[in-house]
Amino acid sequence: MSLRKKILRIKKFKSGRKLVCLTAYSKPFSKILDKYCDIILVGDSVATAFYGMKNTKSITLSTMISHGISVKKMNKKSTLVFDMPINTYRNLKEAKKNARKVINTVGCDAVKIESNGRNFRVIKGLVESGIPVMGHIGYTPQNKNKFKPQGTNLKETKKLIFEAKKIEKAGAFSIVLECIARKAAKQITNLIKIPTIGIGSSNFCDGQILVTDDLIGLSGFYPKFVKKYLDLEKILGKSIKKFRDDVRVGNFPKLNNTY
Ligand code: KIV
Repeated sequence: MSLRKKILRIKKFKSGRKLVCLTAYSKPFSKILDKYCDIILVGDSVATAFYGMKNTKSITLSTMISHGISVKKMNKKSTLVFDMPINTYRNLKEAKKNARKVINTVGCDAVKIESNGRNFRVIKGLVESGIPVMGHIGYTPQNKNKFKPQGTNLKETKKLIFEAKKIEKAGAFSIVLECIARKAAKQITNLIKIPTIGIGSSNFCDGQILVTDDLIGLSGFYPKFVKKYLDLEKILGKSIKKFRDDVRVGNFPKLNNTY
């Protein structure tokens, strides 16, 4: 499918079934996710979920690009979005240079940019130069220090609506709503024509995204908005324990594991 068609397909998710989105940082995960997801995000959450960093502010573009290249290897049909890390889009010139680098080296379909309430020009400029952009509002970890749900009062809701409309006008093809109160998420979703993708922002959104490592029980981070579908830490632990026990008593390797 051409890039234009891929982006147009996502833009159509305003009614009917919801958009299914997850994060991936590597080829094995990409292989599985590509079968079931409309969008795969190479998220800067790799900083915390994979590298164990305190927040997403220390991850570099080159580290993220390495993960993007790995994910791309098994990306066949889903739309691949690359999360631009902090300090890579402080102005249009910087954003264009870095987004082009990402598109050319990773081969992703689009980039995601967190909103700090003033980067609408950057989004517009990127879109005009042919780079599809996903917006991101609400609790945006690159710009905020302390976790707090957003849009819980009228003033905050108005600000979020303003941001969402500006991002839509700038030409973004979709927008992530992170930890936005139900009522505000519903209002935003109803007020804009591009699909909203919620994380902790209720099922009023046009789609949902989660950090895959949270969903499979591998990150150790399970806030209220996460549903843990699997306890992979426990399952892996059982297998590793079996291996340990086999090795200790000489049960592994067996004859058929040797040459
Ligand atoms: O980095 C990430 O994984 C994200 C999602 C939580 C939307 O930005």
